Amino acid sequence: MTRAATIAFGLALWWIATPALAQDTERGRELYDRWCAECHGTDGAGEGSAAAYMMPRPRDFTTGLYQIRTTANGELPTDADLVRVIEDGMPGTAMPGWESKFSDDEVRDLVAYIKDFSDFFELFGAPEPLEFGDRPGADAEALAEGRRLYEQIECWKCHGDRGRGDGPSAPTLQDDLDFPIRAADLSENWNFNGGGRVQDIYRRLRTGMDGTPMPSFSDLIDSGFMTDEQMWYLAAYVRSLSPPERPRVRDVIAARRVEGRVPAAADDSAWNAVPPYYVPLVGQIIEQPRWFAPGVDGLYIRALHDGATLALRVTWHDPSQSPDPDWLEWQGWVAETVQPAPEAEPTALLPDRLVVQFPTAIPTGRERPYFLMGDSRRPVYLWEWSSDAGAHEAWASGLGTRAPLDGGDLSAAAEWEAGAWTVVFQRPLAAADTATTLSFRSGVAIPIAFFAWDGSNGESGAQMAVSSWYSIYLEEPTPKTVYVSPVLAMLVTAGLGVLVVWRAQRREVEGSSQQ
Ligand code: HEC
Ligand code: HEC
Repeated sequence: MTRAATIAFGLALWWIATPALAQDTERGRELYDRWCAECHGTDGAGEGSAAAYMMPRPRDFTTGLYQIRTTANGELPTDADLVRVIEDGMPGTAMPGWESKFSDDEVRDLVAYIKDFSDFFELFGAPEPLEFGDRPGADAEALAEGRRLYEQIECWKCHGDRGRGDGPSAPTLQDDLDFPIRAADLSENWNFNGGGRVQDIYRRLRTGMDGTPMPSFSDLIDSGFMTDEQMWYLAAYVRSLSPPERPRVRDVIAARRVEGRVPAAADDSAWNAVPPYYVPLVGQIIEQPRWFAPGVDGLYIRALHDGATLALRVTWHDPSQSPDPDWLEWQGWVAETVQPAPEAEPTALLPDRLVVQFPTAIPTGRERPYFLMGDSRRPVYLWEWSSDAGAHEAWASGLGTRAPLDGGDLSAAAEWEAGAWTVVFQRPLAAADTATTLSFRSGVAIPIAFFAWDGSNGESGAQMAVSSWYSIYLEEPTPKTVYVSPVLAMLVTAGLGVLVVWRAQRREVEGSSQQ
């Protein structure tokens, strides 16, 4: 049959099948209108009332283009593919997972309903999934082979040498609907839209992600350029760019006490003494102007002190070393895509920025300043760094009230390499001016929070990425006294216990004698 005949035949089938189908999809429509339409639009065209705040935008179901498939490039997804993506969601995007929300039947109804938005499912019938072979083991040699292929096939052109989405083509990428699209950061597999396991990555390489610049590489196997096994090695190599586990988020950042001076350079091996603490960031969506498409989604933090100086090493992934003219056009696209458009003119090159926030004094109780730069009752003390003006201290009593502090002893060294910034801050523990500036002390939990701006993403002012409050705890020095035997320690503890009981009894006696 010619293509035109197929379409005519399909249309005829569609005509016959439509009334029955409408019945099947009635429950799907109800669920869809309630749970999906705000993003995907009542008409399925991806333009719901919330869509303009998102990057990537919600899927336009009328195009029949789907990213997470087991079918060949350019083909429709299977029902099982749609069930899976609805249940699991698309990590790294606004698309939530619905597994705990809906029964299997409800998900099937939703699948029937969203397929209805495009004629292609009726026209072309059930698509065939590709055959995927078994995954071979991957040793060091296999990973090296994967790396060789990564270079040879030029994945780095979009994803960058270390996979952080900073390749030379990255600032030019748009999806099929002309929206800007980031080359995925391959070193954070928990954000992969279709899952971060080796088999998920392998499938994306075989099928491509239709509607985006991410190609399918199945033809390289078909043409004999590489074997299926080598494709698995490439997938295993991509997996190896991320840590074995998604970093755990912990409330307290421990600043280890070091002998001698704290390191000033980012690459000093002394930093290896402490593990990195991961702090996730989200768009600032509380106060106007809100920001829904933050460029920075997390920070890796290490802290050390030497009894006199605190050193903080903050690393984050950012594919652009702003202000970078190569990203100016991209900045304009983001401004057109995400509403409300950034305050700043898209024609202005903006710097990257980082702010570390503390209270102005160590709180005695549980009270902390308002996490968004404090308020008039409880102001905050800030360490600010920007890629065009270096580091300085500041003070704020609410968003937009920031005032720089004169003098001060804060210093910082920064470097951008292969899609990541590292900034090392140093400041003496004792403050020069205790009225505005925090004095650090060991042995107490001190509130700490973070803000980050990606200039090339059009971020400035309140349009930034924010964290909630965490704590930093400067370890106490190991006592200089000689070794205390465990038995002696027990006796001391027991003695302290006796002391506590004795004092409590005395207070009781004193109390009763006063009555
Ligand atoms: C908060 C917004 C939001 C809601 C609510 C939402 N989605 Fe999505 N959805 C998205 C976004 C954004 C994408 C596109 C992500 C991308 O392109 O990487 C998407 C993509 C999809 C896709 C495409 C998957 C693929 O392989 O390309 C399907 C299917 C989907 N959504 C189904 C649903 C269904 C069904 C519901 C309701 C139960 C729903 N979505 C609710 C935001 C949303
Ligand atoms: C022309 C640019 C381009 C090239 C070349 C390219 N990619 Fe991608 N890749 C993308 C884009 C853009 C995305 C993000 C798609 C999205 O977010 O929907 C992506 C996403 C991915 C993802 C994430 C999948 C997921 O589930 O979210 C992986 C893994 C990946 N690419 C691996 C590779 C590998 C390996 C190569 C080389 C064999 C490669 N890419 C070549 C542009 C490219």
